[in-house]
Amino acid sequence: MASFDKNKIEGLKDDLKLVDVYVDEYLRDESGHTTLRSVLSTISATGGKKVRPLVLLLSGRLGPKWPACRDRLCKMGAAVELIHTASLIHDDIVDDSPMRRRKRTVQSKFGKEMAVYAGDFVLSRIVYYLFKEASIEAGMLLAKTVESMCCGEIGQYAGSYDTEAPIKDYLSNIFGKTASLFVAACAIGAMESGCDKKTSMILRQVGEHIGYLFQLRDDLLNVTSSTSSEGKPVHSDFINGIYTMPILHALHHPGGGRLRELLHTIGPGAEVSYNIEEIEKEVEDILNSSRGIEFTRETIRAHARQAEELLETLPKGPVPQGFLEILELLSAGS
Ligand code: FPP
Ligand code: MG
Repeated sequence: MASFDKNKIEGLKDDLKLVDVYVDEYLRDESGHTTLRSVLSTISATGGKKVRPLVLLLSGRLGPKWPACRDRLCKMGAAVELIHTASLIHDDIVDDSPMRRRKRTVQSKFGKEMAVYAGDFVLSRIVYYLFKEASIEAGMLLAKTVESMCCGEIGQYAGSYDTEAPIKDYLSNIFGKTASLFVAACAIGAMESGCDKKTSMILRQVGEHIGYLFQLRDDLLNVTSSTSSEGKPVHSDFINGIYTMPILHALHHPGGGRLRELLHTIGPGAEVSYNIEEIEKEVEDILNSSRGIEFTRETIRAHARQAEELLETLPKGPVPQGFLEILELLSAGS
């Protein structure tokens, strides 16, 4: 995603800087352990677009407690960003990924064991700071969100290599693994700033659409571009048995039979020898002719449109405008 222009909303750039300050504080090494220190500095240097804190901060500008709640919002933004970071550290172990955001992953630099401990360490720091801030409601919501993220990943893993998997299972998995944290970020912004029930509900729904759109776009890029923004090799999802929207749509439409055959050929226990480049090329042709790619694009646009309609129900101002810009950046090229 191209970067969001933080200068358009007064004070937002400073808020995001404060989120970074809290991220660094939450990752501070207190053990004096040299390895832990290098792991933690690798994590804080990993960077990222901070889209989740951004939607939290925007949501937090809509309630009557704004700007008194500003510092608390930034602390919550840091917690949400670090949940995302911990999940990626663990995801990179599962995926055996050497690179993320064009940098080496914790697992490739320090080993899988260290990456497991590092993810756990980050999560425990979040729990500590949520308790320290007595953020009971936000803490409960985030705990339930991590549960959803785990369930999304478990669902994805359990359904891997299943060419009969229904699209509804895929949607429920991406809600868990990705959209749930966007919903939580918007909900916490609304909650901490004292938004009324209706505004809070609208923000949660906007967060949900952004989350779906975000993951659908990531999944689309894996079949259309040479490398994703995260540096993941093209086609790695279906080669590793992760069948996302473009593939699932194609499997359920004419041409699906041949696609199923190709996926079985490269699946576990495959006995026939094959040329992976030829298979990738044929899968690409099927995705184009069966509209798997086009349908995914349409779904992304539909989520963006529904989010826009929800934003139109909010009073005009910089916050809905900021959300619209995020939607535009995320759906660009789709
Ligand atoms: C990346 O998706 C991964 C996620 C969005 C969620 C990962 C969640 C977990 C590992 C469970 C929760 C764990 C913790 C510690 C909170 P992807 O693999 O589709 O995308 P990628 O291209 O970025 O790898
Ligand atoms: Mg992954």
